[in-house]
Amino acid sequence: MENVLKNKHIVLGITGSIAAYKAAYLVRALVKKGAEVQVIMTPAGKEFIAPLTLSTLSSKPVISEFFSNRDGSWNSHVDLGLWADAMLIAPATAATIGKMAQGIADNMLITTYLSCKAPVFIAPAMDLDMFAHPSTQQNLDRLRSFGNQIIEPGEGELASHLIGKGRMEEPEIIVAALEAFFSQKQQLEKKKIVITAGPTYEKIDPVRFIGNYSSGKMGFALAEACAAQGAAVTLIAGPVALQTQHPAIHRIDVESADEMYAAAMSSFPEADAAILCAAVADYKPETEATEKIKRETKGEMTLNLVPNRDIAAALGAVKRPDQILAGFALETNNEQSHAESKLKRKNLDFIVLNSMRDAGAGFQHDTNKIDIIDADGSIIRYPLKPKSEVAFDIIDHLAMLVNKYD
Ligand code: C5P
Repeated sequence: MENVLKNKHIVLGITGSIAAYKAAYLVRALVKKGAEVQVIMTPAGKEFIAPLTLSTLSSKPVISEFFSNRDGSWNSHVDLGLWADAMLIAPATAATIGKMAQGIADNMLITTYLSCKAPVFIAPAMDLDMFAHPSTQQNLDRLRSFGNQIIEPGEGELASHLIGKGRMEEPEIIVAALEAFFSQKQQLEKKKIVITAGPTYEKIDPVRFIGNYSSGKMGFALAEACAAQGAAVTLIAGPVALQTQHPAIHRIDVESADEMYAAAMSSFPEADAAILCAAVADYKPETEATEKIKRETKGEMTLNLVPNRDIAAALGAVKRPDQILAGFALETNNEQSHAESKLKRKNLDFIVLNSMRDAGAGFQHDTNKIDIIDADGSIIRYPLKPKSEVAFDIIDHLAMLVNKYD
């Protein structure tokens, strides 16, 4: 395998577990592979292994205090967080996992974790009952939801002589997990991608709106997939009950089509590509009542609607030759010809077609079945898949087009 760890900056956090001795092997293995390792220890970690061992193996002073003891200079957790290509916490105790999950920044390791923009790997080490406790498991789930990768502990005899799950994974397996991560080709490295997602709400009065059933799941899955492929993502989200996980996603929350239009138009000039998955309302009320409309006083009422601006078409009109624009079409009949005419009208490079006729595809589902139609008329048909996997198919296609301009 190509030496993917060469010159990689790894921040290694060591906490107070008996498995801390294995961290010495970890440092040695990483350094041997050409990585630069900066060790940070929690105060308890220092009780289990001497900082001198680790500073010797890593050829760098170990950091554990906010201030350096020697000259009183400030150890910047922000600089360290930015320096890192990856942060690895091995061994990670239940206490450190809990603090990471809750943002309790009372030591250098946790503050660095909170400042870290790079991917984070966590190798838990603790007694079987501590590991199995719902508190620990919930904290680990929370860390997973932040996009952190948990390197599951192994089963076997523990320091307590009890047998079960909680043993920190062996250093060579942890190194292999980092290698696997770095060997993944980052198809969208340094690219800027704008994504619109979710529905829009068009206000009728202060308490009512016109909306639609879009959940935003497809757009959010695309945002995560683009970020995982190295892109900086601007996610313009209508009202949805979803959260983003990857730190490279910058989220702009909007409500109406007009707000989404403004955010998209201002983000697009900087972008290499835009994916328009929002279900933008085609119409909005001509006027918005400033007070709640009352049936008693209004009686029968007619709502006058005016068309919203088409964001996709507006971006298509200002698109430069080096920018890629992708749209979605959700159709109920004459799917292909409707999608093709949208592709042309909006000046898109490709359109992702999903039909309302396919069971399990479209709004609210976790699965989707798509066809990708290109501006040159070619069509790729995909089977029904989870939206997260569909996202990767779309990203593969996007990456191929975006990278043409390198
Ligand atoms: O014309 P239709 O709304 O079906 O087109 C769907 C595509 O156009 C989607 O990619 C959608 O996000 C985009 N669109 C838009 N602005 C609108 C309407 C649709 O960007 N006002």
